[in-house]
Amino acid sequence: MRTWRVLIAGFGTVGRGAAERLVAARSELAARGCDVRLVGVLDPAVGSVVCPQGLAPERLLSMVGQGARLTEYPGAEAVADLSDALDRIDVDVLFEATPTDLTNGGVGLEHVRAALAAGVHVATTNKGPIALRHAELAELARERGVQLRAEGTVMSGTPVLNLAEVGLAGAGVHSFRGVLNGTCNFMLSEMESGRSYAEALAEAQRLGYAETDPAGDVEGHDAAAKVVILANLVLGAELTLEDVRREGITGLDAGRLQDDAALGYRWRLVAEARREGERRHAAVAPVRLPSSDPLAALTGPGNLLVFETEALGSVSIAGPGAGRAATGHALVADLVAIHGGAGR
Ligand code: HSE
Repeated sequence: MRTWRVLIAGFGTVGRGAAERLVAARSELAARGCDVRLVGVLDPAVGSVVCPQGLAPERLLSMVGQGARLTEYPGAEAVADLSDALDRIDVDVLFEATPTDLTNGGVGLEHVRAALAAGVHVATTNKGPIALRHAELAELARERGVQLRAEGTVMSGTPVLNLAEVGLAGAGVHSFRGVLNGTCNFMLSEMESGRSYAEALAEAQRLGYAETDPAGDVEGHDAAAKVVILANLVLGAELTLEDVRREGITGLDAGRLQDDAALGYRWRLVAEARREGERRHAAVAPVRLPSSDPLAALTGPGNLLVFETEALGSVSIAGPGAGRAATGHALVADLVAIHGGAGR
């Protein structure tokens, strides 16, 4: 059995989802020889603490559920930030789950850089660092001999990066097309069934699908970041956000969606990228699809991605694209992958 000392940065929807999954998956992880000791949680909203002996995730969840500060956790030490935490305790893996900042990477980028530089493995659901600085961070991880994993940045816990990295290795992936934003897909499905734009957005926020700032979802920035991440990690495309032609769903109204649905068409926010020799094309835009298109059948916060490959033709993966448990699972799956690669 190997014990992994894990620190969670960001104890909102995703960080709490990860804590819940660590509890739910404890015996399955143990069966894989993977024991997890949660040695710290950082979040200014609920309190930042470390405890080298381990914090019980159940107790942390119950404390935040009751509105208590985590600094009241018996035996835990309050810390100012990640570098303070890394100075005080040993950490093997950082779960980085702070809100995405696609302008300059924000605190998430600082966290990922600092952890990798300190020789700590990183599993992140934060799209900012991966969409903006993946090449630099991957190089830093290589230099320090640690892993940088980002399954939850695309399609939440649906294992799309794992599929690409393992199953599609050598298959010659040259393009992809899909629905990559759960909030927009949920909203479009709700609007087709009669809800207004504002009601659908409020419900997506209530269910934990939307970003902290939902403009990132409805204006297409979130899907564009996922296109960049997939294009760079899977197609080796070296794209930036500016390379993605982007249009969101803010111009669509419920009446138009309902009229088109009655005619057999569905609007979906379609994300795609392809390589043609040295040329690259990447786009996110709402598209009116015939009901025969598999993307049209996708409802709610679901995501669907179709890879086009030389060896296998089309390969599809579908699953949740957002949500607390689904995104929390991504961090647990990345931890298991790090565990599997330990010693390599
Ligand atoms: N806000 C994102 C979505 C969450 O709705 O898809 C997952 O990245």
